[in-house]
Amino acid sequence: MHPVVRPRRLRQSPALRRLTAETRLHPAELILPLFVREGASEPRPLASMPGVAQHSLDSLKRAAVEAAEAGVGGVMLFGIPENRDAIGSAATDPDGILNVATRALAAEVGDALVVQTDLCLDEFTDHGHCGVLDAEGHVDNDATLLRYRDMALAQAEAGSQLLGLSGMMDGQVAAVRDALDAAGRTDVVIMAYSAKYASGFYGPFREAVDSQLSGDRRAYQQDPANRREGLREARLDLEEGADILMVKPALSYLDVLSDVAAFSDVPVWAYQVSGEYAMVEAAAANGWIDRERVIEETLIGVRRAGADAVLTYWATEVAGWLR
Ligand code: PBG
Repeated sequence: MHPVVRPRRLRQSPALRRLTAETRLHPAELILPLFVREGASEPRPLASMPGVAQHSLDSLKRAAVEAAEAGVGGVMLFGIPENRDAIGSAATDPDGILNVATRALAAEVGDALVVQTDLCLDEFTDHGHCGVLDAEGHVDNDATLLRYRDMALAQAEAGSQLLGLSGMMDGQVAAVRDALDAAGRTDVVIMAYSAKYASGFYGPFREAVDSQLSGDRRAYQQDPANRREGLREARLDLEEGADILMVKPALSYLDVLSDVAAFSDVPVWAYQVSGEYAMVEAAAANGWIDRERVIEETLIGVRRAGADAVLTYWATEVAGWLR
């Protein structure tokens, strides 16, 4: 017997496949994370992330211009300060590296793409946690919210158009929205790392920001076992006023991403994190996979699962391919 229904009919030529593709990549939907190191006079390559570096202010500007020229939608900035302390003072200092770099990028590429900043204390604290600690050494949620409020104002003042709240403190979106609005900064966008999991895939990022952390973040980031809880976090962030929701990491959490995308009425993003990048680069360097094909497939997969935009260390390169 011969089949009447033949799905292969639509796959027979490149032109038909192109016309019937359900998901596409576009440079505007890619966001490039960038690291800037205080006091650096030239970029320092990262061993665990080939092709990625801790930038000097000059090389940071060049990387941002390159991203803008490739049509990338935004850059997400992370700062590595020279001095750290218990409360992460450098995060709220207008002359702290992240704020200085934000000012530089806002002036350089602020009209071409969206300049965004990571709003979290982990790069700035001497203990490496995302918040301040109480007398017992536990992360103090509500005291941390006060630091986040000040950090939001410093970043907005420096010219960040979008704040990425990645600390996983309860109530952080409401606290930051309130601080911004009270200061008349109703224009600043809040992107909430809503469902952020305590993940081994952040390994190379710890090198990228010279993380001081010993121990882990399991008391605030989510348990990888929990899908329903990801939805709960996303719903709370929406209620607190988040403009954009994010799921992170990407590839191991596509079910959560799909759940959040199905219920959200604001944009949903995903973060293809450092370990996802490192795995593909390492396998490709060994000749075990086709690098470009796999990079594209991971990004398509994340978009297909429901991400409107993706943070990826390949943003500029992939945008170049798409042009
Ligand atoms: C916290 C933060 C982390 C990442 C982005 N923001 C580290 C963490 O939560 O431990 C990880 C990004 C990556 O791995 O690429 N400021």
